[in-house]
Amino acid sequence: MSEIVAAPAASYPFLLNGEWISDGSPVEIHSPFDHKVIGQVFYGSSAHVEAAIRASVEAFQITRKLGSYERERILSAISQKLSEQREDFAHTIALEAGKPIKTARQEVERAIYTFKVAAEESTRIEGEYLHLDTIEATKGRWGIVRRFPIGPIFAITPFNFPLNLVAHKLAPAIAAGCPVILKPAPQTPITALKLARVIHESGWPAGALTVMPLSNEDASLLVTDERIKLLTFTGSSIGWDLKSKAGKKRVLLELGGNAAIIIHSDADLRFAAERCAHGAFGYAGQSCISVQRILVEKSVYSEFRQMLVNAAGKLKTGDPLDEATDVGPLIRESDALRAESWVKEAVAQGATLLCGGTRKGSLLEPTVLTNTRPEMLVNCREIFAPVVTVEAYDDFNEALRQVNNSPFGLQAGILTRDAQRIFTAFNGLDVGGVVAGDVPTFRIDHMPYGGIKDSGLGREGVRYTIEEMTEPKLLVMNLGA
Ligand code: SIN
Repeated sequence: MSEIVAAPAASYPFLLNGEWISDGSPVEIHSPFDHKVIGQVFYGSSAHVEAAIRASVEAFQITRKLGSYERERILSAISQKLSEQREDFAHTIALEAGKPIKTARQEVERAIYTFKVAAEESTRIEGEYLHLDTIEATKGRWGIVRRFPIGPIFAITPFNFPLNLVAHKLAPAIAAGCPVILKPAPQTPITALKLARVIHESGWPAGALTVMPLSNEDASLLVTDERIKLLTFTGSSIGWDLKSKAGKKRVLLELGGNAAIIIHSDADLRFAAERCAHGAFGYAGQSCISVQRILVEKSVYSEFRQMLVNAAGKLKTGDPLDEATDVGPLIRESDALRAESWVKEAVAQGATLLCGGTRKGSLLEPTVLTNTRPEMLVNCREIFAPVVTVEAYDDFNEALRQVNNSPFGLQAGILTRDAQRIFTAFNGLDVGGVVAGDVPTFRIDHMPYGGIKDSGLGREGVRYTIEEMTEPKLLVMNLGA
């Protein structure tokens, strides 16, 4: 009887200076759902880091001179190729990130859009004309301001949007004319490596893109190197440590949050409950703008609470490749254990569990808690899991204070029909974005996105990232009166 031999897992070399490299020992990438091997990747060494920096510095002499029509053409080609391979990308995301396949498909559509918007933005990186003859002594002078690409960029991306958050680094860099070295998340490098192939085949100069899994130690060489002009990081609060080591380079940080939403008594409660369930439990709460804290005006609190529990109960938890799944696994079992322990701790301290709280391996059922206090971990830290707290408020201004009672400030939501309350919230909330009429989980990829306080520094959203990746330069003209 012949022995059945399992097919070897596919290998994904990294891209450096136009070469696909598979040096060193392969590292297996596992599904967070069933821990099966999905593929294997290779880690770059410190020598590869040095080669990548040199290649980027050299390639910058090419990318800085590309016409906007050339950058536009490359970005459109990437968007087009991604759309031709959309199902393969969605499948890869579902496998390596454990994102439910229908949610993974949405991420691919967003990435196609991100590159499309970057193609458009590459042709409208505008400057300014300045009158400089505003006093007698400067008669005859005028000026122009033009934005120039800043140079090589080092980007570090997280596991939770392995395609679109990589796109948010690479698309604006290409639009601006900057080479990039990208370190993908260790859990989800395959999607980034597949995207690297698409970009490489779309005409972006060799050397101007490195996508390479790296140890934190080797990545730190890029954080400190002065030839790198911008560090852009999406992930946890470790970003602040990186910033302290980054020297003179610019730093763009997209970090965490514990997003809150206020639901006032005049809101459509059914819509509110459906959207909150989506915002809290979609992709198992593993988004920086997942709904974590819900504040409901007390006259509608009981009704809303029941609707939310009902909406949570309709969601299916399980295999990300199952078309019916709404809530997949957390990226690691240790994250599910941590979230479960925060829930148990809250309950031990007096919180009431309205639904969920049960864990099976890395899967945690959608969980709703009430009777919590602001200082409980489920409220004051970023849980990054399908767990939400719901509390009643008496006074609208007190609700605003509760939203601001957080080390984070990324996005907040407000559901009310009262425009005055919306403007009060807009003026008073300490966040990067207020979403009125929807959950704080709302994002379309051209809008400015980023936070204040512990949530980060600077803004993404294609045009805003291009601004971070370009330097305004002034030309003063004195040609006589
Ligand atoms: C994030 O987790 O910060 C990204 C959220 C999104 O792009 O929807």
